[in-house]
Amino acid sequence: MTPDLEAYVRDGFLVLRDFLPAADCDALQARAAELVAGFDPGPVRTVFSTRDQGHARDRYFRDSGGAIRFFFEEEATDQPVPLALNKIGHALHDLDPVFGRISRHPRMAALAAALGFTRLLLLQSMYLFKQPRIGGEVGWHQDATYLHTRPSTVTGLWIALDDADRDNGCLMALPGGHRGPLRQRFHLTGNDLVTDTLDATPWPDSPPVALEAPRGTLVVLHGLLPHASAPNRSSRPRHAYALHLIDGSAEYAADNWLQRPDLPLRGFD
Ligand code: FE2
Repeated sequence: MTPDLEAYVRDGFLVLRDFLPAADCDALQARAAELVAGFDPGPVRTVFSTRDQGHARDRYFRDSGGAIRFFFEEEATDQPVPLALNKIGHALHDLDPVFGRISRHPRMAALAAALGFTRLLLLQSMYLFKQPRIGGEVGWHQDATYLHTRPSTVTGLWIALDDADRDNGCLMALPGGHRGPLRQRFHLTGNDLVTDTLDATPWPDSPPVALEAPRGTLVVLHGLLPHASAPNRSSRPRHAYALHLIDGSAEYAADNWLQRPDLPLRGFD
């Protein structure tokens, strides 16, 4: 598949239908279900539901860069665990064989190479649940806010594992908005995670577009592209798998939240 690089440079995103075969979508969903079935939520659910456990919660999140960890939806109260999770992250691609195989499939490597990386590294992976009725909103943001290199190289590969549309919270984007500045950085200061505003330029006022994505569609997201997703108020799930790539030739910010001292980053090999 030859991606339309001209459109990517213009818009900051690409929507590639029929990218991931149904069998691979099935395999990722089945594996996620197995991981969830093996997850003991007892202590963790406590951590996430108790306000004064902020430090433990931060620790659980910060250590997830090199681990497989489970995060709950804010609105989850009495749902069973498989319907209460927001996501699993953030090293599925390195620690789980099923996610590893599909993340490093030659079709993924070929796409990433076509995007012009010189030394690709797979930085982060997330299984996103966007659960029926309680799947939370994700506000407008740029991924480089969270995963910063100098120069900015972070790129998202987001794969729909269920049909994603306006009713169940598909991605929204501001076409061309990646040509604007990085607005904020979320980073470590000492032991704290903080968000700093770097540039107060408002988002472009071009109308947002809904990136409706049938199952198996892969969406490429430039790291500076403003994007968001609405809550899922429908009765249907909206599972997705997202990988974030960086170029190893760029400097990785020492104060990024995601640090992997014990698990070196790898490319597609
Ligand atoms: Fe994002």
